[in-house]
Amino acid sequence: MRITHCLLSLLIALPAFPLDGKELFHKYNCSSCHAPDRRVVGPSFLEISRRYGQSEKAVEKVARLIIKPKPENWPGMAYMPPYNISMEEAKALAKYVLIDSIKELETKKEENQPSVDDILDDEFQFH
Ligand code: HEC
Repeated sequence: MRITHCLLSLLIALPAFPLDGKELFHKYNCSSCHAPDRRVVGPSFLEISRRYGQSEKAVEKVARLIIKPKPENWPGMAYMPPYNISMEEAKALAKYVLIDSIKELETKKEENQPSVDDILDDEFQFH
């Protein structure tokens, strides 16, 4: 009886599926004011990530700021609307803002850089 109870509460405690921050980012229209690499209405995720870092603590802090923004953190900018969402969703979003979107940017940058083969090919054409 006790064990069943324990297992049951464990099942309830585990989220049914991991929340995808990028999906939530589009679902909640964050994209109308934010982009990872440039300022739109709000600060870029690169700026936010540089300011707060990528630690577990930073994710928590930023999650709270998504639920209850503090416009005084970004003087001169417009106000971000508060989001009435769960801490779990806010944390998934914060993780996307601070970590995953930055990783995506770094991968894109690497892809755009010419490979050694490309450079060698170009030079080869001149000789
Ligand atoms: C209407 C435009 C708008 C929308 C929509 C919006 N933001 Fe913002 N966001 C801002 C502005 C402006 C700021 C800077 C001023 C402020 O924090 O109020 C900001 C700041 C932030 C910050 C930095 C908070 C801080 O205090 O340093 C994070 C993180 C953030 N937004 C994430 C999100 C996420 C995630 C969503 C979607 C759930 C979202 N924003 C939707 C405009 C917006």
